[in-house]
Amino acid sequence: MRDAARVLANVRRGMLPAHIYNDAEVFTAECERLFSRAWMFLAHESEIPQVGDYVVRRVLEDSFIVSRDQDGDVHAMFNMCLHRGMQVCRAEEGNASHFRCPYHGWSYRNDGRIAGLPFHKDAYGGEEGFARKGKRLLPAPRLDTYNGLIFISMDPDAPSLTDYLGGFGFYLDYYTKQSASGCELLGPQRWRINANWKIGAENFAGDMYHTPHTHTSVVEIGLFREPQAQKRKDGNTYWAGRGGGTTYKLPPGSFEESMAYVGYPADMAARMKEQWTAQQQDVIGRDGFMVSAASAFPNLSLVHNWPKVADSDAVVPFISLRLWQPISANETEVLSWFVVDKEAPESFKELSYKAYLMCFGSSGMFEQDDVENWVSLTTTAGGSMARRLLLNGRMGMLEDGSPVVPPLTPEQFAGPGVAHVGYGEYNQRHLLGEWADYLERPPLDVSQITVGRQQ
Ligand code: FES
Ligand code: FE
Repeated sequence: MRDAARVLANVRRGMLPAHIYNDAEVFTAECERLFSRAWMFLAHESEIPQVGDYVVRRVLEDSFIVSRDQDGDVHAMFNMCLHRGMQVCRAEEGNASHFRCPYHGWSYRNDGRIAGLPFHKDAYGGEEGFARKGKRLLPAPRLDTYNGLIFISMDPDAPSLTDYLGGFGFYLDYYTKQSASGCELLGPQRWRINANWKIGAENFAGDMYHTPHTHTSVVEIGLFREPQAQKRKDGNTYWAGRGGGTTYKLPPGSFEESMAYVGYPADMAARMKEQWTAQQQDVIGRDGFMVSAASAFPNLSLVHNWPKVADSDAVVPFISLRLWQPISANETEVLSWFVVDKEAPESFKELSYKAYLMCFGSSGMFEQDDVENWVSLTTTAGGSMARRLLLNGRMGMLEDGSPVVPPLTPEQFAGPGVAHVGYGEYNQRHLLGEWADYLERPPLDVSQITVGRQQ
């Protein structure tokens, strides 16, 4: 990447070289240094509940079959036949005990092991000439799960997923651990936008500032109970480990009152209370903050909101999870799932799904507003003038780099990490700081990686 040291130094000061949002060279560096090492979300265990269930997902160009084998174990296998490289599975999802390559017919068990190959004896001399034992579809170098969320890393030396997520796991529980049964996902809906992947990730991580303006129309039609500007101004942004997000400030009240305020039935709130630690409950009850949008570095985002879904004043909360799948410097595939507690009543699931579709589904009102901005930003960032411009990413930061508002104390906010009330681009700077750290590391040397080598 040209001028890398200067670009990264500026990013760390909150002075953002505009071209990083549409630059093929930057994208190549991201592929080689960032996506090759970071933990990437692929799927959720609830998408493959039965033995033999599978979904096919990608990390950049690499396709993976995410399967549940006959023993119930989860695998992520590189979707490329060991013979001549055909894509073994071309369906997006299904149930299979075996996968048979469409080209010459080699077959694999759903844990990746070779099962059979046509004319084994005549073509290869049978087991003596080509022993099947030990041969399997190439596994993802690392696989781990958190609350059923399946992540892989292409770096065999990546830290554990728990260490990688760090304090952000505390917040991830609000979205994905609401009962002992965990959550279930519906989707993904998928669509492509002509926008750079970082813009969405940054927006969900901490852009409280755009809501009152970009989403004015949603506010004006009365989808929300309170003026957005007020709710956002009094909320906070927090960053912990490798993720961060925003909260809304709730009216004073107990944990139970706060949960009822955002529309959770009492039985759901009671199950959440059982799952969450006293500290997690304090964020909501004692401190009065309710998690809203969030991002885990690099490209997993979440949203929690509670709009009105019918012609009444009742609000219904929904949770959605999305992946910003980078296609190129100026194109991103969005994968968006509806997330709900498995134990939630069916009537709640239906209304909550409606709320999700209305706000953040492919035709959701928020979605339309946001994407219009991001496509425009990306297009403008691809020109020559953008190479001369440093954007202002310093909201909430004084000239000397100190914060406009001091961080909240543990007495004010029980959650881990650093949190600030009000508007500020603290989280965007954290996210881009991680980005800069990864881009400074050398590209992953795959010639040294022997994991899964077949011959
Ligand atoms: Fe798969 Fe030949 S490429 S069997
Ligand atoms: Fe938005």
